[in-house]
Amino acid sequence: MSAPDIVWKDGKFGQTSRRDAWWLSPTAILLGFSAFLIYANWAAFQNSHYTYGPYISPFYSPELFGSSPHALFGPKPRWYPNFLPFSPALFILWIPGLFRLTCYYYRGAYYKSFWADPPACAVSEPRKSYLGERTFPLIMQNFHRYFLRLSYVVWGFLVYDALRSFFFPEGFGIGIGSLVLVVNVVLLAGYVFGCHAFRHLIGGTFDQISDHPVRHKIYNFVSRLNAGHKKWAWASLLWVAFSDIYVRLCSMGIWHDWRIL
Ligand code: FES
Repeated sequence: MSAPDIVWKDGKFGQTSRRDAWWLSPTAILLGFSAFLIYANWAAFQNSHYTYGPYISPFYSPELFGSSPHALFGPKPRWYPNFLPFSPALFILWIPGLFRLTCYYYRGAYYKSFWADPPACAVSEPRKSYLGERTFPLIMQNFHRYFLRLSYVVWGFLVYDALRSFFFPEGFGIGIGSLVLVVNVVLLAGYVFGCHAFRHLIGGTFDQISDHPVRHKIYNFVSRLNAGHKKWAWASLLWVAFSDIYVRLCSMGIWHDWRIL
């Protein structure tokens, strides 16, 4: 695309001199995010069909309290208010949820798609003022680095789940579900370890990173992941939803978990 001649800074909403289909990407992102959010919220409140044999849905892991054999601290605790809906996913899903919400890539995407602020580069936006991320509520985006650390803990549990998925009641085996959960942690690793904040943690604090050979190597690797952060973000988002669907449909008896070994 050639650079537009005029940026319609003070024009009507959506005014632009762009001639390409600039609306296509924000619309696709709007539809994709909305579909994921609707499904994830629905799945999180089901409190059923989230395990199958050694598999557990990543939406429900780690299962702190719950009725499945995966629960770390037993069933629903007595102190849990009865007037609130109970689901193991509600204890944990806020961590990856807030991590993704504050992700640098997702911010850029949903600011355009959901808030039209602006809808795309060089396209006029509906507001005349710009507050940025220096005031409430958007200043909360700075918590991303803390959600990053919590997300590593959750990712560690998902790695454990993926390993555990090879151990069936009758012994070691490989099911399609095992592979689904392994792909899930690989895609999540590509996303989480390519995080901009993680890249800063690894090398951003040094004046000259080449003075630290090990950190330099890790930094270069993280930088390569970071270059594809958008792709990792989408692939891991779609696959985590698919992993839940896979476990759910197997548990409901709709899909059969084919065993390779
Ligand atoms: Fe996207 Fe941190 S910037 S996960």
